[in-house]
Amino acid sequence: MKRQLFAKKSLQVLLDEMAGENRLKRVLGPISLTSLGVGAIIGTGIFVLTGLAARNYAGPGLILSFVVAGLACAFAALCYSEFASMAPVAGSAYTYAYTTLGELMAWIIGWDLVLEYAMGSSTVANGWSHYLLKFLGLFKDNAGKALITIPIWLTMDPFTAHEQHVDYRVANTLVVESATGVVTDRLEEPLSLPLDKSQNIHRVDKVQVVFTEESRQKAAELDPSKHSLARVEGALTNGLMFDPLSSPGDKLQKVASGLHDGYTAYESTPFPFHFTINAIAIFIVTIITAILVIGIRESAGFNAAMVLIKVAAVIFVIGAGVGYVDSSNWSPFLPYGYSGVMSAAGVIFFAYIGFDSISTHAEEAKNPQRDVPIGIITSLAVCTVLYILVAGVVTGMVPYPEIPLDAPIAGVFEKKGLESASVIITIGALTGITSVLLVMLLSQPRVLLAMARDGLLPDSFFGAVHPRFQTPHKATILTGIVSAITASLFPLEALGHMVSIGTLFAFVVVCAAVWIMRFTHPDVKRPFRAPFMNFVAPMGIIFCISMMISLGWQNWLRLFGWLAIGLVIYFLYSRHHSHLGKELRMELAEGGISPAATPRPGASGK
Ligand code: ALA
Repeated sequence: MKRQLFAKKSLQVLLDEMAGENRLKRVLGPISLTSLGVGAIIGTGIFVLTGLAARNYAGPGLILSFVVAGLACAFAALCYSEFASMAPVAGSAYTYAYTTLGELMAWIIGWDLVLEYAMGSSTVANGWSHYLLKFLGLFKDNAGKALITIPIWLTMDPFTAHEQHVDYRVANTLVVESATGVVTDRLEEPLSLPLDKSQNIHRVDKVQVVFTEESRQKAAELDPSKHSLARVEGALTNGLMFDPLSSPGDKLQKVASGLHDGYTAYESTPFPFHFTINAIAIFIVTIITAILVIGIRESAGFNAAMVLIKVAAVIFVIGAGVGYVDSSNWSPFLPYGYSGVMSAAGVIFFAYIGFDSISTHAEEAKNPQRDVPIGIITSLAVCTVLYILVAGVVTGMVPYPEIPLDAPIAGVFEKKGLESASVIITIGALTGITSVLLVMLLSQPRVLLAMARDGLLPDSFFGAVHPRFQTPHKATILTGIVSAITASLFPLEALGHMVSIGTLFAFVVVCAAVWIMRFTHPDVKRPFRAPFMNFVAPMGIIFCISMMISLGWQNWLRLFGWLAIGLVIYFLYSRHHSHLGKELRMELAEGGISPAATPRPGASGK
């Protein structure tokens, strides 16, 4: 029945459902909602992905990347706010799509939100594990030996361990024959590296490294694809750029030692085959899941305390770091050009994800029409300002190729010899990332709950609300299990990209849906009306699609793969169990009338 695919749920039905049984408790005010928003936003993105984005994608241009991604989110936030004020029920973008674009699109978005929240939780848990290791590293005996150790094969996903294992061996095989670099403001012939101290030059560009033919051949035997060679070469040339006085051979050794952990993890597995797993990520997901099953009120209080600590930590990064900024580190400002800025925007877009999750709590808000838009816009604005400042400080403190990839913000302070600052940041980051995980694992079951209520998922499981705790406990536990497994098996970067592209897609749909609603439902009450809709919505769409494009075709492929699995589930299960679909079939059988085309009595949304 083709009509069902485009059948829309009326706004009035949504609101009527709100009055029914089995509702979540209304306990959240504007401050709790904003705090949930900030709780969901500041986390792995700023504390971990910043390093990757600056080092491999944008350099100091990362500051612009934060502006671009922040603008895209601002446009989307205005659209989210308008819709959240119109349909203040659990489910977020999924619910909005159901009332505007029809059932199929709603399913796609709901499925896409699983990507955002469940996979987002995995990404965040993975990021948390980096800071936990940094934290545990603080406890040492007098001889400097670590007091708490975790077997290294339990700290890393198998893909990262495998990649570092190959890279380590390749880096140790390669022998530098010669290296050259160009002195930027002189534009002379390339100089041979290392430079002499007396030349007083601390920066070169266009570094080229030549490895001996024999060592290249040996490296090719280790890795016929040569990807590993390219990664090692990239790390070496970037490193020499800001450190042309070092011998290229020593620098190559440094690159190798940075890969040693992965090599050891891979080699030290106790099984007859090579297997590593990020057990720390499983640990944190399990704890948060248990807290969430117990209940929202307790979680919201816990969240508020953590949010205060992490905002303080971010302000500390800015305040303590600004005095160490050396503006020469901002030059070249765009080492990877504008395309680098856009790619990094796609990567650090992840840092902004979370404000939209406030709308999934609309059903638990005391005054959703007013407080949800306040929560969304305030939390996004606060985080955008903080992020741009952090990006400026971090890229100004050390040359971008030297920003560490694991726990980069604390790492940058450590590089400057600011050990105690690094400790404070590590604790702040751990707390902050925990609160993100809390909100993400809290949001996912609510989307599933909304879908179950519409019959698109089995209600007995996903719609079950615990009689005493009043939480969607079954969906919460399932979300925890799935997130823990993915967090423990996949690399942070791949997870982060996948979440970013999925969420950007959801934002595109929300911007489009809210815009369409202005034309199809002009009279619906909009307690919050986004200003300049004809500008805001298309700009949101353009910005989000540009970032999606910058994430590259592999991520598009993964997104399509994910959506294809979703469509199979829809056509095998959801389509036949959808309440709206059943209603449609019944009415068609009785009188040939489609409810999607017939206004319900008093349905303001039609
Ligand atoms: N914005 C959240 C984070 O960065 C998802 O961890």
